[in-house]
Amino acid sequence: MEIRFARESDLDAVNVLRKQVNDLHVAGKPEVFRPGFPDALRDYVRVIFADPAQRIVVSDDGGSVCGFAVLHHIVKPENPFMYARDFLDIDEFCVDEGHRRRGIASAMIGFIRDWAKENGFTRIELNMWEFNRDALAFYEAAGFTTYRRYMEMML
Ligand SMILES: CC(C)(COP(=O)(O)OP(=O)(O)OC[C@H]1O[C@@H](n2cnc3c(N)ncnc32)[C@H](O)[C@@H]1OP(=O)(O)O)[C@@H](O)C(=O)NCCC(=O)NCCS
Repeated sequence: MEIRFARESDLDAVNVLRKQVNDLHVAGKPEVFRPGFPDALRDYVRVIFADPAQRIVVSDDGGSVCGFAVLHHIVKPENPFMYARDFLDIDEFCVDEGHRRRGIASAMIGFIRDWAKENGFTRIELNMWEFNRDALAFYEAAGFTTYRRYMEMML
């Protein structure tokens, strides 16, 4: 198992995993997420790949991509409420459903942490949907803590 940054030739395999995440989100929050995997969502991976502020990490299992993460360098200017912020956001994250509970996501977080530290980041952030208890259990096991919540009231 090798964790590395993606090559352009990995992007179709990354999209297979992005569809798994979208299907999960559609099942858990159908009033928010659009079902299927429209062309715009498929093609967006190339926008991410071309953006100098974003990096795609993949887990390569002997030539097949079985996990990926999208890293996004976020810089927010100071505003009347807050100091300026500069951090690494994990925008998308998935391990193939046939490869889970083998430590692959943990290895990807280890790679991301090392790379972030080497590149001067002092903080990694991510957000997740509350219904996704498996992801919460993983992120907590990996050492993330909740620092902010979104709340809603259905009417
Ligand atoms: C969440 C996810 C990335 C975890 O990947 P993984 O490779 O299976 O995770 P690991 O094997 O590294 O798990 C490490 C630890 O996290 C915890 N963990 C992982 N998945 C868990 C689950 N489904 N339920 C409870 N704990 C879990 C466990 O403590 C696990 O250690 P253990 O297997 O020794 O008990 C994977 O389930 C996934 O891709 N889910 C669908 C997409 C998704 O939800 N992405 C994140 C939000 S966008």
